[in-house]
Amino acid sequence: MKLADIKGYTTGRSPSLQNDDAFITRFEKIPVQVFQSAAEGSVKVADHIVQLIHERKAAGKMVVLGLSTGSTPLKLYTELIRIHKEQGVSFANIITFNLDEYYPLDHDNQQSYNHFMWDRLFKHLDIKAENIHIPLGSIEQDDVAVFCKEYEKKIHDAGGIDIQLLGIGRTGHIGFNEPGSSYNSKTRLVSLDRVTRNDATESFNGQEHVPHFAITMGIGTIMAAKEIILMAWGEAKAPVLAKAAEGPVTDVIPSSYLQNHPNTTFIIDSSAAAELTRFKTPWKVGQCEWNDRMIRKAVLWLCFQTGKPLLKLTEKDYGDYGLSELSTSQVFSKINIKVFNDLQHTITGWPGGKPNVDDSTRPERALPFPKRVALFSPHPDDDVISMGGTFARLVEHGHDVHVAYQTSGSIAVSDDDAIRYLDFVRDYENIYNVDDPKAGQRFKETADFYKNRKKDNIEPVEMLALKAAIRRGEARASCRYIGLKEPNIHFLDLPFYETGTVKKALPGEDDVQIIMQFLRALRPHQIYAAGDLRDPHGTHRICIDIIIEALERMKADEWLKDCRIWLYRGAWQEWEIEMVDMAVPLSPEEVAIKRNAIFRHQSQKDGAMFMGSDKREFWQRAEERNKETAQLYDKLGMAEYEAIEVFVRYEVE
Ligand code: F6R
Repeated sequence: MKLADIKGYTTGRSPSLQNDDAFITRFEKIPVQVFQSAAEGSVKVADHIVQLIHERKAAGKMVVLGLSTGSTPLKLYTELIRIHKEQGVSFANIITFNLDEYYPLDHDNQQSYNHFMWDRLFKHLDIKAENIHIPLGSIEQDDVAVFCKEYEKKIHDAGGIDIQLLGIGRTGHIGFNEPGSSYNSKTRLVSLDRVTRNDATESFNGQEHVPHFAITMGIGTIMAAKEIILMAWGEAKAPVLAKAAEGPVTDVIPSSYLQNHPNTTFIIDSSAAAELTRFKTPWKVGQCEWNDRMIRKAVLWLCFQTGKPLLKLTEKDYGDYGLSELSTSQVFSKINIKVFNDLQHTITGWPGGKPNVDDSTRPERALPFPKRVALFSPHPDDDVISMGGTFARLVEHGHDVHVAYQTSGSIAVSDDDAIRYLDFVRDYENIYNVDDPKAGQRFKETADFYKNRKKDNIEPVEMLALKAAIRRGEARASCRYIGLKEPNIHFLDLPFYETGTVKKALPGEDDVQIIMQFLRALRPHQIYAAGDLRDPHGTHRICIDIIIEALERMKADEWLKDCRIWLYRGAWQEWEIEMVDMAVPLSPEEVAIKRNAIFRHQSQKDGAMFMGSDKREFWQRAEERNKETAQLYDKLGMAEYEAIEVFVRYEVE
């Protein structure tokens, strides 16, 4: 099973058939092509562009491309570079127009789209500099209107855009045309939506640095393109994508305007497709292959629609909600009981397996007992935020638990905290008469650096190391509290993270090797890892991709054949209940233990640097999610628990 399959499992038909089957896609008002992964979708778009380049070259003509930035086109740009380098395809006959640029922002600012485009694409190709057009974020406000007019004229003079690439924002924006943008809008200065500015927080190292404005092509400019390809990857895009493709055309969701364009295609991955009718409620679009998972999905959906627990669903409910196909093919009362038992069997207080009992209906096997457990944590606090209760239970049951922190998490430590710790060291050295004349000096230099720091200043290596040390200390404190011994705590410091800036490097061979070595040395019987798919450019996503790549490479290893892999979610999202394979209930006391373990991560408390759009503290999110899951189980007719942590099993194919 691939990671992409875990979310939004399909109707059992092959992806291409689903994409082409007009019956299945009839809710979609724009052609939507769903791919298993962003990589596959990006290759498809790259091939399409390259084909046009070849055709035009043969005819002695130019190709005019409208380009976008952000995380979405990254894999496409990597693929275009690969094609250029490995297949010798020339990009000398392309003219490009970028969609947008932040305003005001210096042209060469690291966060500018101008910098992004050169860094991620242009400098690697043989495109001519004079053929590149990007709105200028550095011009005077009085000159913006003229600049925008000229930008439109340049597009027109180039013959119009042949292929316009788009991403989609969580507000439904295309380019920076936020909700309320008019159908005929042209290139202009716009204000950025609060959600959009929030989403840009990480790349600007704090929301206060995110510009309030942008220059963007208008909806009218985009709609004039001969062909439009909108790409979207990851679950975070799923709700807005469904609205754009299936909802009414409205300025509230500017991307829905694309329904009126004659040649637009959405190229998306299966996570971004999850809210489309054909994936969310596939029984509404045609006959389903009723495997166990699909039955569970449909029946739980029916419970939520009717507000009834599983064992109270009637044949009439099935009929009223369009599920009579399911209740006639199988006796409805049997289905109720089957799904009830199925869900009941996910619940266990023994996440490492219960010795000396029949384990045939338990999520985890009884033997071996105790087990060797590898618990991967992308940052130094995800272990306790996401599965602190299960972690404590595994340790309590005597399993040999090893926590592996994949990254240092250094960039999420505030400058204030770094200074505070150096201040402590200064005093410590006085108290213990440690002969380090540099202590005071070091404190002063660091405090001065942070005080005068401009948003672009890269922190010196030792200051980042100090921040990493702060997080390591917190992680050890948290593990100590849970009862884990020091030799069982591992800091992997994966190289992709250690760039010194918010922007991460692409994961590479070194990252995979570190995970492989760790696992081969431990040979665990259980692996826990963060299965977050929400943020396609986030650290969690990269961390799970690296683990999966490592597992794929080791699938012939004997130990792996006897190893179960459990994916947790936590600070950012929770598994949907229909996906759950193991549910570990927590008592009120255990909830308190989990909370205290999270509190050990002091630098991430009381207004941590990267909280995302959710303003709740991490411990609050975790607690509320776990309680909500318990309430859901309760509503479905299971026992009532205080809180539940849930896991999905991942199988290496
Ligand atoms: C970028 C742009 C935006 C992005 C959108 C999605 O040039 O115009 O509309 O395409 O905000 O951003 P990512 O791809 O980072 O999710």
